[in-house]
Amino acid sequence: GKLRDRLAEVSVDHNCGTDRICYLATAPTFFATIVGGLAANGLIERAGVARHDRLIVEKPFGRDLASARALNGVLRAVLDEEQIYRIDHYLGKETVQNILAFRFANSIIEPIWNRQYIDHVQITAAETLGVEHRGRYYEESGAVRDMFQNHLFQLMSLVAMDPPVRYHGQSVRDRKADVLRAVIPFEPARLDRAAVRGQYGPGVVDGAAVPGYREDSSVAPDSNRETFAALRIGLDNWRWAGVPFYLRSGKRLPEKLTMIAIEFKRVPHLFFRQRRQDQIEPNTLTIRIQPNEGISLKLGAKMPGSKMRIRQMQMTFSYNDAFGDFPATAYEMLLLDAMEGDPTLFNRSDAVDLSWEILKPVLETWEATPASPAFPNYAAGEWGPPAAAELLARDGRAWRNSSAPARFGAES
Ligand code: BG6
Repeated sequence: GKLRDRLAEVSVDHNCGTDRICYLATAPTFFATIVGGLAANGLIERAGVARHDRLIVEKPFGRDLASARALNGVLRAVLDEEQIYRIDHYLGKETVQNILAFRFANSIIEPIWNRQYIDHVQITAAETLGVEHRGRYYEESGAVRDMFQNHLFQLMSLVAMDPPVRYHGQSVRDRKADVLRAVIPFEPARLDRAAVRGQYGPGVVDGAAVPGYREDSSVAPDSNRETFAALRIGLDNWRWAGVPFYLRSGKRLPEKLTMIAIEFKRVPHLFFRQRRQDQIEPNTLTIRIQPNEGISLKLGAKMPGSKMRIRQMQMTFSYNDAFGDFPATAYEMLLLDAMEGDPTLFNRSDAVDLSWEILKPVLETWEATPASPAFPNYAAGEWGPPAAAELLARDGRAWRNSSAPARFGAES
């Protein structure tokens, strides 16, 4: 009530009308109570002629399918879907928005963006940080809820989606939801073939010794919570049949790096006489979401000299070199969109449901069974447990880890 009265004064003083945007950046347990209070006091109401209020809701939107649906029910009891803005700050990142520009504003890209040319896709979101002061939250969530259900699935959807008819809230989100609809369900009985979990023990990150996850005071000493996950996802659709998407994310990994690597198929025949050490790698397109934002393409080229010998080289686009600094942060961009009533970069309820549905077998199986080999199964400062490398090795592939380039483009 006090907030309502105060906002009424502010509206008069600053002549800013009656529409309200409320942003729930709180622990999710309070969402329903807050929304009830806002609605009871007239701070938000269903869209009408006079008012168009909006509600921005932070992640996580639920912790599984049932709780996401329940939360949606609470919100929809007082607002229309068009008034609900489920925020995912990854969608506000320039490099993430550029995925669509790169794919659909360049005529040479889209014709090769499919199973005919692409061997597989890797999406990595690695962090050097541990769970810091968020142990209590993290014990409830874990890597899959914290990073996959939202950020990594968003990246996968943008890489895999078909072109929308228009750059418009419904059209873009329809095509993204189609990607999630195409995901081949995980089979609980064969989960180990497609999903890997890890938890960090003590180790060394950035040259400093750091404690293990279980040593955090708000974490159970025998916690079964994953701080790392890797998933092998298949999409059952015309464009991507047979092309695996490997997703991984973890805390306390060797470097802070979010990157999408698109690995193309090898050439069918090499007529150069190559020495054994001159292995020609497949073309790889790397989209660096952060840091050192940019895009690079690995190509084979002739080494200068009298012999026809091929070496890998890299063509690089660096955001910083091309455009200088970003004008705004991801959150600033998204809050502005919400003020302008543009939901394109916000999550729709059907996509939220789909993502929880996909992850259900993983979450339920992992919660019901202790990890084997037992947690902790990677030392802080390593790229997750050995099983993460085996996940790709079984398919004859390997993760691409950057070697901490001093600046983008200097990758080996
Ligand atoms: C948040 C997660 O949504 O994203 C955090 O809750 C994570 O655990 C963060 O650290 C990563 O965001 P960014 O922008 O640093 O990649």
